[in-house]
Amino acid sequence: MNILIADDDPMQRELLAGFLRKQGHEVHAAADGTEALEIFRRAPIQLALLDHRMPGMTGDQVLERIKALNPLVRAILITAFGAVDMAVRVMKLGADDFLEKPVDLVQLLQKIELLEQRVAVTADVIEVTETVANATLPIEIIGTSPAMQETLSLVRRVADSPWSVLIHGETGTGKELIARLIHLLGPTPDAPFVEVNCAAIPENLFESELFGHEKGAFTGAERTHRGCFERAASGTLFLDEVGELPPALQSKLLRALQEKRITRVGSEREIAVSTRVLAATNRDLRALCETGQFREDLYFRLRVLDVALPPLRQRREDIPSLIEHFMTRYARRPTRLAPETLDRLVRYRYPGNVRELEHIIQRSLTLARGSVLLPADLPEEVRTDLSADQGLLQERLDALERDMLLAALEQTDWIQTHAAEQLGISERVLRYKLGKYGIRRPET
Ligand SMILES: Nc1ncnc2c1ncn2[C@@H]1O[C@H](COP(=O)(O)OP(=O)(O)OP(=O)(O)O)[C@@H](O)[C@H]1O
Ligand SMILES: [Mg+2]
Repeated sequence: MNILIADDDPMQRELLAGFLRKQGHEVHAAADGTEALEIFRRAPIQLALLDHRMPGMTGDQVLERIKALNPLVRAILITAFGAVDMAVRVMKLGADDFLEKPVDLVQLLQKIELLEQRVAVTADVIEVTETVANATLPIEIIGTSPAMQETLSLVRRVADSPWSVLIHGETGTGKELIARLIHLLGPTPDAPFVEVNCAAIPENLFESELFGHEKGAFTGAERTHRGCFERAASGTLFLDEVGELPPALQSKLLRALQEKRITRVGSEREIAVSTRVLAATNRDLRALCETGQFREDLYFRLRVLDVALPPLRQRREDIPSLIEHFMTRYARRPTRLAPETLDRLVRYRYPGNVRELEHIIQRSLTLARGSVLLPADLPEEVRTDLSADQGLLQERLDALERDMLLAALEQTDWIQTHAAEQLGISERVLRYKLGKYGIRRPET
């Protein structure tokens, strides 16, 4: 990595610089903040090791400046021993990590390795984002959570190879989207992407669907038909729900993959096909192999590389941007989310993952009366799902109470007398509760 060291203590500076050079890094050393900034402006620094206490500019001031010049730069602040609150402050300024003096070199190396990985992930993700932005067919992928950044970085790396990739993940996690992205990032983005849903094709038509048929091959085969393999030639064949493939077809598919040749139904002639194969499943194929429902040799063929998509509940950081994404797509008039609605949506556990979130937004936008989405507009299971956060009884009761208050106010057009009546409480108690939960009428 290209590393900048800023430290006013020449001994410490030389020690660190010498050590890191030996590890194969490109090191630039500066004796103060001004010199550090000068170097930063002309060298492609990826990581800055900044001593906090330097005459003139302090380490955190240098950090602020270099972050302004390049937000992607990584930084480790070196602080006096025991300066914990300092550490908290510099992390807020955008440092990735901090080390206490005297610097433990083994620890320093570990931290650098970790940051190196993050730098690589970021570089991959930037490449993905650029490709997506320049794609001819619109494709939009939200994923700033660490879990998705890792996934996108992996996707970027598997995309170049000719090997088959098995994409697995729960229903609605975005497997098809990722398959399209792999195709887009691959060597032949303009070649066809052909999708076959293995669960949707009747068994007796499958062979012809995959490999094609000759005219007259069977009753009803009135014309010659090119199968998916042929249509995807030099492009990508996406076998969706591959776990549902019947055993007889598993063997035929395996043969096609091994020999890179196919035969149309009713023909003797073999056709060479060079098709990249991607497969997706929400089932545990390993387990299906163990029970004999899926051929192990086919499993290994398909899973040369594999991409696991994390369920949405393991990347809640993405929920707000996904909501925004779907609101922009589906709102017919300007609509915004009440803070407590967002709160509910972020906590919900999403057994149906991103697709479920998409449907929830679509549905709530359709049913909402005002220009603000209230918790009452959300489906029942989202409003009452507390499994994500099992909380204390009081917390759960509070959440329920708050929901009931909001629903009553909504139904009575925020006329407090009516809402209190509907809830069977006095207006005074209603006002007290509104104050307690900070509920105010949203301005329209
Ligand atoms: N990261 C994401 N960013 C934006 N939209 C997404 C993302 N992931 C999924 N979606 C959207 O969610 C919906 C479901 O995604 P997709 O069909 O790819 O899931 P899947 O894993 O193939 O689901 P299934 O297992 O049910 O086939 C699609 O409308 C897709 O565009
Ligand atoms: Mg799918």
